[in-house]
Amino acid sequence: MDKPLTQNIVSGRDYTNFQEYTETGGYQGLRTVLNDYSPEQVQQQVKDSGLRGRGGAGFPTGMKWSFVPMGEQAPKQKYFVVNADEMEPGSFKDRLLMEKDPHQLIEGIVISAYAIGASIAYIFLRGEYVEIAKRLQIALKESYQNNLIGHNILDSEYHLEIFLHTSAGRYICGEETALLNSLEGKRAIPRSKPPFPQISGLWGLPTIVNNVETVCNVPHILRNGADWYQSLGLGENNGTKLYGVSGRVKNPGAWELPLGTTAREIIEDKAGGMLDDYQLRGFLPGGASTDFLLPEHLDIAMDYDAVALAGSRLGTGTFIILDNKTNVVAMVLNLERFFAQESCGWCTPCRDGLPWVVTLLEGLLAGQGSAEDLQRLSKLTRLLGPGNTFCALAPGAMEPLQSALKYFSADFEQYLANEQTVVFS
Ligand SMILES: Cc1cc2nc3c(=O)[nH]c(=O)nc-3n(C[C@H](O)[C@H](O)[C@H](O)COP(=O)(O)O)c2cc1C
Ligand code: SF4
Repeated sequence: MDKPLTQNIVSGRDYTNFQEYTETGGYQGLRTVLNDYSPEQVQQQVKDSGLRGRGGAGFPTGMKWSFVPMGEQAPKQKYFVVNADEMEPGSFKDRLLMEKDPHQLIEGIVISAYAIGASIAYIFLRGEYVEIAKRLQIALKESYQNNLIGHNILDSEYHLEIFLHTSAGRYICGEETALLNSLEGKRAIPRSKPPFPQISGLWGLPTIVNNVETVCNVPHILRNGADWYQSLGLGENNGTKLYGVSGRVKNPGAWELPLGTTAREIIEDKAGGMLDDYQLRGFLPGGASTDFLLPEHLDIAMDYDAVALAGSRLGTGTFIILDNKTNVVAMVLNLERFFAQESCGWCTPCRDGLPWVVTLLEGLLAGQGSAEDLQRLSKLTRLLGPGNTFCALAPGAMEPLQSALKYFSADFEQYLANEQTVVFS
């Protein structure tokens, strides 16, 4: 089975090294592009591949690029930005790619930036990824020395500078427009859209923001073709995906698998199943900001469409397991505390609503909750839901809560003193 993204992640080898990377075909995709492809042809190839953004929303990458103005009338300066913030609780896939194979990301950046005619690129890196920052700096230096970044790359008359920017560290900086504000040195709050960054992004100029895993796919698509890439997926969605599992399983970790692998294969085969004496009660399939799925969903293909049909989101594809000994109310409270702390405070439902959610859950766990409190929690999931806030932080925060209230209502009701069954309205 082809595993293009992790082919270089082999124990005993050091692919952070330029020499090793080129020995397995590294930078071949870039050479092909600069010799044979116009930017528009690169865009078309990525469109044909069906690659969808791996940052959470699954937006088609080639289509996103095609919104950038091209040609003589387009602004001379454009930007390509890699979203390497990775602060979603439970997500650790981009870390693996950057730590173990930084040149793959750099090659992906140069091809992607070429495709939209950008001459400056930024890697916006989570501040705590200190070791990755060191490895990326070394890899960037090697790439500059080998004329793969900088002026007149491989004698092609294409120029690109890449800068590494380490974040000061807030979850909201991962939201692409808050990220751009942060890069500009402003307060990291989301921008209203439209205009979208593809038209008016960094310093008001056309900008593409893509996730690390998305960008790492690009060299392989250009090296092996769109048909090859399409053949890697199992269902409607193409390519491979880095899936991860954390929680009480025998073998927590991350694996590259065909997009559309079932949850059962990921949890039972790759993660080794539950630890002895623990049973699976549910799982968040795409990080903390996705809806719970249940054991009955284990045979669903983990792709964007099938997971949405089951009532959740693929998100980052990194599962958080709920076992039978974990208090689900306390688990949800823990997540909501994170989201409340990370709210940027720009819009009222999120700024005021998330602390209310925390207060209500704390009261419940302390045995001071009422049936009305559960109804208030249910109402808050709607008030903070899609369409009521500037960005997706608050709606995402409501996903584990709304699905826990739906699937595990008895766990919440057990904390009500002398109360009857609650009717959610
Ligand atoms: C609160 C919040 C945090 C986010 N954090 C990240 C992140 O750490 N990494 C990421 O790639 N996308 C993150 N996103 C999604 C980005 O806004 C954006 O959709 C993504 O970077 C686009 O890349 P893609 O098209 O390659 O998926 C976040 C979104 C929200 C609302
Ligand atoms: S939803 Fe929350 S994080 Fe997003 S803009 Fe509003 S206050 Fe900020």
